[in-house]
Amino acid sequence: MCGIVGYIGHRDAYPIIIKGLQRLEYRGYDSAGIALYDGTDINLSKTKGKVDDLKNKSESSISLKGSLGIGHTRWATHGIPNDINSHPHYSNSGDLVIIHNGIIENYEAIKKELTTRGYTFESDTDTEVLVNLIEEVKNKEEVKLGKAVQIALNQVIGAYAIAVFDKQKPDEIVVAKLGSPLAIGIGKDEFFVASDASPFIEFTNNAVYLEDEEMAIIRLGKEIKLRKIKDDSIAYPLVQELQMNLEEIEKGGYDHFMLKEIYEQPRAIKDTYRGRLRAAQGIIKMAGVDENLEKFLNANRIIIVACGTSWHAGLVAEYIFEDLARIPVEVEYASEFRYRNPVITDKDVLIAISQSGETADTLAAIKLAKERGAFVFGVCNVVGSSIARETHAGAYTHAGPEIGVASTKAFTTQITVLTLLALKLAKEKGEFSESKFHEFLSELENIPSKVQTTLASNPLVEVIAQAYKDSDNCLYLGRGYNFPVALEGALKLKEISYIHAEGYPAAEMKHGPIALIDDQMPVIVIAPKKGHYEKVVSNIQEIKSRKGKIIAIVTAGDRQVTDLADHVIEVPETIESLSPLLTTIPLQLLSYHIAVMRGCNVDQPRNLAKSVTVE
Ligand code: M6R
Repeated sequence: MCGIVGYIGHRDAYPIIIKGLQRLEYRGYDSAGIALYDGTDINLSKTKGKVDDLKNKSESSISLKGSLGIGHTRWATHGIPNDINSHPHYSNSGDLVIIHNGIIENYEAIKKELTTRGYTFESDTDTEVLVNLIEEVKNKEEVKLGKAVQIALNQVIGAYAIAVFDKQKPDEIVVAKLGSPLAIGIGKDEFFVASDASPFIEFTNNAVYLEDEEMAIIRLGKEIKLRKIKDDSIAYPLVQELQMNLEEIEKGGYDHFMLKEIYEQPRAIKDTYRGRLRAAQGIIKMAGVDENLEKFLNANRIIIVACGTSWHAGLVAEYIFEDLARIPVEVEYASEFRYRNPVITDKDVLIAISQSGETADTLAAIKLAKERGAFVFGVCNVVGSSIARETHAGAYTHAGPEIGVASTKAFTTQITVLTLLALKLAKEKGEFSESKFHEFLSELENIPSKVQTTLASNPLVEVIAQAYKDSDNCLYLGRGYNFPVALEGALKLKEISYIHAEGYPAAEMKHGPIALIDDQMPVIVIAPKKGHYEKVVSNIQEIKSRKGKIIAIVTAGDRQVTDLADHVIEVPETIESLSPLLTTIPLQLLSYHIAVMRGCNVDQPRNLAKSVTVE
């Protein structure tokens, strides 16, 4: 839940680390720090706040010299966000310095033990305990840093991606990983370390992604040495060629990543089905499904696990799988599923959905399902992520990097992949006639241009946002396929604008939430022509008669809802099960504009981080 960056080579480390931290700020942004070795000393600077605060502080307080350094951007777990708890952390001798993403669960016991041996601690963090444990092992066992790290990590319980260096041996950085991501960029006579490849993409296309329980000794002038933390055996680094490019991780003229990512959706959805969907031939090809088709076709049920927006995509998929492929589906919050002793058999297929592929609860749910014999299929965006590696098979969404903390293109591309999967299974099971199948495939191919058309409502959405930006509460209602869209709309609004919002199935309103309706309550109703339209119209009438303000998402040309609503935003007509791909777009834009108008930090909302790698 933090971002780490390291550099060792022939360039100045400072600008690389600062820029890298800025790119990783989506992972955590309550404090930041940097440690540089200038040839004689370590210069360390850290502060509560953003990487820009760190930059200002460092540039006026420390020497920025040196071609060895490490940096960190934090999302606090142990210890409040303040200067002292920020990383990097020194060992007591001042020789070792460490950055850490993760949690050391048994740090209190280790701290107690180290305290009896005379160690003192400045911060409240588990990380400061770890660096001192490494120092204790190094001195006691009289071993080199790499060996000390390996021995120390065998004594800790928890998760980590760490980078540590020793002032006495400034030609190497030691890194290790368990549960948190760590990539090593390999340049010419230089190495980069980071939580993902974005900090070093302009310097090298070659990267090694550490596996869990692996560590590496990165030494200048030498090949990278990988070792298994458990038994010190040698592992062989697999050098991968990166597919990310610089443009993808920059804002490209947009004010915020979120807006850029909303606008990228026509392209992203196309990239999701590219090479998989051949509408003209009536073919859907998905390698991970084709190779395991029997598992899907013989499944008693599909269990979907995910968190947040990915869970909402799972709810949409439940409607799609049951409606089109007639396979029973259960959708679970990964965090609940993993702790409630679920009944899982080898006839179950578990689908784990995660943009980042690093969400701790989703990973744990996968492990549990695997232990109990289920076949586990992953839907991830980040290539090579932990979930992508932990699942038996899967399908990437190919949305490109999503940097705004609020998920947008991840949601629509997850739905696209899951729709392809459901359509494929429906066809294989004989649930669809050829003509119906063709109709679906060609409509799916039309979706990117329909999303583009929907995006043209942006100026209108901005005007509507102006009228409701000062609301304290907001209700989102939808039915059927658009009930999960209501949940997603409400989540988007609350996470980036801090307005309290609730999503409900429209018909449930009369069982409680209707009591909230008065002339101050904006109600966003998703009311496309197909899907219980008349029922939704009745729900709108119920709200209007209690003076609620209606913002309706309707199908182009709609009359009935348009006459009743205070504002309407039109989306093009489509097949009911594909409608969430369109109706969600105005809701993303509405949240975005309201958040901007309220002066909120859209890309980095308070208390949040992009990937939640803690339980
Ligand atoms: O990376 P994941 O898809 O596993 O992340 C799950 C949630 O943490 C994520 O969707 C979160 O709810 C977003 N901030 C929502 O916009």
